[in-house]
Amino acid sequence: MEPISFVEARTLYCADNLQQLVDFPSECVDLIYLDPPFFSNRLYEVIWGDEAEVRSFEDRWEGGIQVYINWMKERMFELQRVLKPTGSIYLHCDWHAGHYLKVMMDEIFGYKSLQNEIVWFYKTGGTSKRHFSRKHDTILFYTKGANYTFKPQKEKSYLAHKYGFSNVTIEEDEGGWYTEVGMRDVWDIPALRGNQPEAMGYPTQKPEALLERMILASTNKGDLVMDPFCGCGTTIAVAQRLGRQWVGIDISPTAVGLMKRRVEKQGASDVRVVGVPITVQELKELKPFEFQNWVMQRLNGTHSARKTGDMGIDGFSFMAHDPIQVKQSDKVGRKVVDEFETAIERAGKNNGYVVAFSFTKPAREEVARAKAQKKIDIRLIKIADLLGPEDQPDLRAPELSDMFPKPTMSFLDLPLPEARDKKALPSPLELIESDRRSRARA
Ligand SMILES: C[S@@+](CC[C@H](N)C(=O)[O-])C[C@H]1O[C@@H](n2cnc3c(N)ncnc32)[C@H](O)[C@@H]1O
Repeated sequence: MEPISFVEARTLYCADNLQQLVDFPSECVDLIYLDPPFFSNRLYEVIWGDEAEVRSFEDRWEGGIQVYINWMKERMFELQRVLKPTGSIYLHCDWHAGHYLKVMMDEIFGYKSLQNEIVWFYKTGGTSKRHFSRKHDTILFYTKGANYTFKPQKEKSYLAHKYGFSNVTIEEDEGGWYTEVGMRDVWDIPALRGNQPEAMGYPTQKPEALLERMILASTNKGDLVMDPFCGCGTTIAVAQRLGRQWVGIDISPTAVGLMKRRVEKQGASDVRVVGVPITVQELKELKPFEFQNWVMQRLNGTHSARKTGDMGIDGFSFMAHDPIQVKQSDKVGRKVVDEFETAIERAGKNNGYVVAFSFTKPAREEVARAKAQKKIDIRLIKIADLLGPEDQPDLRAPELSDMFPKPTMSFLDLPLPEARDKKALPSPLELIESDRRSRARA
């Protein structure tokens, strides 16, 4: 790819951020927020949206902390380069690696460039009998130079009583009497709950209120905000809402699909998406989980819950709610169609879709037989037919809630995005089995 000479705003890159960043020019970004996968040296498992699978969330770091720090360091050199001399960077850390990351940041930005070690304090469930409950993350706020954009923010400081304050203005709200003070570096912001309107079911999604503070303090309207580990797009959604320019990068096509819809909901138009899989070969190389998400997004479908997943139904079409089965393989044959026919019947439906790279002649014959004998209409959809320009007519632009049902639904009665308790983690054997089953289905 030719290096780009300027950064085009309102662009989402589906790429490894290191590969992407090297193409960016120097000193073009005003604010960077990054929330990389945490180092945990053990499996950090989350349930992803549809409950169908326990997903491992890409933060297994074999080789120990130094491997992780080196991985981050390479990226941080590039981030430092693309930051404007007046720019700021906020690095979101948890207790596993925060201390190592701070030393690394000092090396790259300079010891004196640390402006704040922000503590984000939240009150989630879960406690321990062996240590104090871990209820905070750390956000390291560094600037590139000494002359940086900073607009002091205010917060409410609650008072025990109304009386005895002569030289401050006091007001009352639902929390009691308060006075406004300069914002401090301990931020008491509730963790995201699955039933909040902004929740998208994305593991590790951060609250918008957190990003709002950083963006308001460290940018002016029209400034460029970048998130190189963008997830479901919290940073860019807030940037869009606050009238800032933005760029998002994430390695996951699922994440990029989600963030595109999210910023468009915030009113962004002409959003450019670069790097999502566009060829059959690229789609063949996707992980089964990403592949299934890609198909569901393309069809405007919803993911199925575990029960139907076990029946061989991976999702349902929009509106008619007809079963969809996704196969990441070629030459899908008669047996698959035959078994899917049974699944359709058990689901009490007359129509269904099988999506794959190609189908055999016997599969097509089985479709004709099901139609003639049982009046069951199975449509075989080839992946090549789903590929096309981004603006190809869809049945309807889906709501996010259609694609990723909120946890208020009966099958997803779990708060997201918290990681599960360590004791509840599946054993490695269970994970391997889960992975094997999802591959076998694909
Ligand atoms: C902790 S999540 C970010 C969540 C985000 N702050 C939000 O509120 O949705 C980390 C993200 O980094 C992405 N990621 C991991 N490695 C990456 C890489 N090398 N390049 C780009 N994105 C990466 C993952 O796909 C994941 O979406």
